[in-house]
Amino acid sequence: MVNLSIEEIQKSIDQELLNFENKFSNSMKTKVFLLDKITNYIVRRKGKQIRPMFVFLTSKLCGNTTESTYTGAALIELLHTATLVHDDVVDDSNYRRGFFSINALWKNKIAVLVGDFLLSKGLLLAIEHKEFQLLEIVSNAVKEMSEGELLQLEKARKLDITEDIYYEIIKNKTASLIASCCAVGLASVSKDETLIAQAKLFGEKVGIAFQIKDDLFDYGTEEIGKPVGIDIKEKKMTLPLIYALNNCTWLEKQKIIFIIKNQSHKSKKVTEVIDFVKSTGGLEYAINAMNKYHHEAIEILHQFPSSLHRDALEGLVNFTINRKK
Ligand code: IPE
Ligand code: IPE
Ligand code: MG
Ligand code: MG
Repeated sequence: MVNLSIEEIQKSIDQELLNFENKFSNSMKTKVFLLDKITNYIVRRKGKQIRPMFVFLTSKLCGNTTESTYTGAALIELLHTATLVHDDVVDDSNYRRGFFSINALWKNKIAVLVGDFLLSKGLLLAIEHKEFQLLEIVSNAVKEMSEGELLQLEKARKLDITEDIYYEIIKNKTASLIASCCAVGLASVSKDETLIAQAKLFGEKVGIAFQIKDDLFDYGTEEIGKPVGIDIKEKKMTLPLIYALNNCTWLEKQKIIFIIKNQSHKSKKVTEVIDFVKSTGGLEYAINAMNKYHHEAIEILHQFPSSLHRDALEGLVNFTINRKK
């Protein structure tokens, strides 16, 4: 098993990441004063940037980074940022990347418009460089993300989510964009549709494992730069809870569903649900599921020729599973 630190992985593409940063911040330029203030705030509080890293490292599986790879990476990080700004409005979340979210500082109206601005800047960037294939891959992912978020909202109202629906949600809302990172990375260096599809499937497996990890964070108490315990409050039922509800008595299930439906605003009640999930083995179950997707991703990755960059990519997959935030 490849064991590389995130710093070592970044180092293998340090020039690419440096150029990317420039391109990313330039692509947000605006003459509108308020918007400029907010985009500066966003650039200063950057995230882990794993998506551009996936773009660069997959491009190196079968060639070398091109101008298209850079456009693809900036396009994806712009769209990712746009969806996070919108997601915090949807989830009513005040905390992101260790500081106040855009909606917390400037309110929902402004956050919605800033998200739209970032989204349109991403689309324009692709058009400016005539990258229509990349634009198609990424636009599909954005469509699927909206569908995933809406399906999640629908299920939060009805509370009738199954494991199959959970996977459909996370495949759409998270895995589709990570899959598109890998498809874009490969498509930026090769026209081989089979290889592009293989890279995409690899990214999809990584994305599913990534979101299960994110959902597990919600059951912890670690400082991860965004709120924990918020999913149950928002009536978002994720894999640990779905499993626990399928593996308890009828009476227990009614009791927990009643709490989620009617008392999820009370933190003592949320703690009761969390304790129930823990004692029913929900966390172990989700960890096993995450490991299964992790393993499947690595198997697909190993179908590509072995190289130092493939090792770095494997290290990045391991990082998404073992990360602390
Ligand atoms: C957060 O993604 C959104 C999810 C899909 C869970 P990241 O954890 O990659 O966010 P940043 O960009 O590092 O903040
Ligand atoms: C992931 O959803 C965000 C998007 C796919 C837009 P979550 O709501 O689960 O992510 P976090 O935990 O707020 O980052
Ligand atoms: Mg959300
Ligand atoms: Mg959220």
